[in-house]
Amino acid sequence: MIQYDYLIVGSGLFGSVCARELTDAGFKCLVIEKRNHIGGNVYTESIEGINVHKYGAHIFHTDDKNIWNYVNKYAEFNRYTNSPLGLHKNKLYNLPFNMNTFYQLWGVSKPSEAREIIEKQIKEFGFKNPKNLEEQAISLVGKDIYEIFIKGYTEKQWGRSALDLPAFIIKRLPLRFTYDNNYFSDKYQGIPIGGYTPMIENMLKGIEVKTNVDFLSDKKQWIKQTKNIVYTGALDAFYNYQFGVLEYRSLDFNNESINIENYQGNAVVNYLDKNVPYTRIIEHKHFEFGNQKSTYITKEYPKEWQMGDERYYPINDDKNSVLSKLYKDLALKEKSVFFGGRLAEYRYYDMHQVIASALSLVKKLSNDD
Ligand code: FDA
Repeated sequence: MIQYDYLIVGSGLFGSVCARELTDAGFKCLVIEKRNHIGGNVYTESIEGINVHKYGAHIFHTDDKNIWNYVNKYAEFNRYTNSPLGLHKNKLYNLPFNMNTFYQLWGVSKPSEAREIIEKQIKEFGFKNPKNLEEQAISLVGKDIYEIFIKGYTEKQWGRSALDLPAFIIKRLPLRFTYDNNYFSDKYQGIPIGGYTPMIENMLKGIEVKTNVDFLSDKKQWIKQTKNIVYTGALDAFYNYQFGVLEYRSLDFNNESINIENYQGNAVVNYLDKNVPYTRIIEHKHFEFGNQKSTYITKEYPKEWQMGDERYYPINDDKNSVLSKLYKDLALKEKSVFFGGRLAEYRYYDMHQVIASALSLVKKLSNDD
C-alpha cells in the first residue's frame, strides 16, 4: 500500500536536504539508511567529548551566500579555517603553496624572488605536452614543489607511480604569492559547533527515519510503499551491477585516543614522504578549538577499493566513465526514481555542491508536481 510521496534512500547531506525540503513542501517522506546512524559521510561521533569526523575530515566552505545561509539554519558554525601543514623529511611546511611555504623551501621572502625560482624551474624542467602526472605537475610548478609536495603524497593517494598517472588528474596547481595559509579561497568557511550530526538531526527533525535498513535488500517491498524514490546509494548497485562494477579509491582509518592534551597542534598534517604509509593525521579536537584533557587522532591510509569497502573517491578514467554513462542512461529513463549525491551520480562532490544539487532537484520536483 502506498504510504509515502517520497522514499529517501540514504541520510547523507543529499538525502537529508531533500527530505527536509520535500517535507516542508507538503510531501510525506520516509528516510531509510543502511548504516546504524544518520548523516552519511559527514557523520561525527562524540568520543571523550571530542567530535570525531568518522569518515574523514570535513571542513565546510562555500562562496555561495544562499548555501551558507541554508546550513546556518541548522547549525551554528565556528571560525575554523583550514590551514594544513605538510611534513617532508622531518621539516614542516605551510600549505597550500604560499609565501610561507616558499620561505621555508628556499629562504626567499619576496614574491618576485619566489616567482623567479618557479619560472626558472618550469623553463628548465617543464614539458610542452605533458604525458603523465609528473610531467604535468613539473610544468605547472617546477621541480622542487613537485618533488617535495606532490610526488610522494599523490603516489600514496593513488597507489601508483606519478609516471603511470594521467596528466589530467592535475589541471591546475594554485600558487599563492601572499603569506596566506587559508587552504580555501571561499568567502565562508567553518565547522558546525557540536559536529555535523546535530546539524543533520536538525534537518531531519519531525521526519520519519529508519536506520539499519538497506533499500536494496528488499527493493520490491519499498517500491510498493511509495510514489517516488530519491536514491542516494551506489548507482551500479541499484542496477544489480548489470554492466559491471564502478571502481573507487578507498581509505582505512586508524584511530587512536592519546592521553595528552595536544598531539600535533593542528587539525590536519599531511605526510608527504612515500615511505610513510598514511597520507594525513587528523587531530579532531582542533576543528572546534577543543581543550579536553586527552586527544583523538586518525591516520588515513589510502587503499584500492574492493566490494564491501567504503566507497570514497570515484575513479576518473575512461573505463569508469564509459561504465557510469551506461548506468546514468538507465537512470535517466526512470520516471519515479531520482538519483542524486556522490554515490548515485558517481562523482566527487564537496558538501556545498551536494546541498546545491539537492536543492535544485527539489525545486524541479516541486515544479513538476
Ligand atoms: P553520503 O555518502 O554522505 O550519503 C549517502 C548515504 O546513503 C549513506 O549514509 C549511505 O549509508 C546511504 N545508503 C547507500 N546505499 C544505501 C541503501 N542501499 N539503503 C539505504 N541507505 C543507503 N566535502 C567538503 O565540502 N569539505 C571537506 O572537507 C570534505 N572532506 C571529505 C573527505 C573525504 C575523505 C571524502 C571522501 C569526502 C569529503 N568531502 C568533503 C565530500 C563530502 O563527504 C560529500 O560531499 C558528502 O558527504 C556527500 O553526501 P551524499 O549524501 O551525496 O553521500
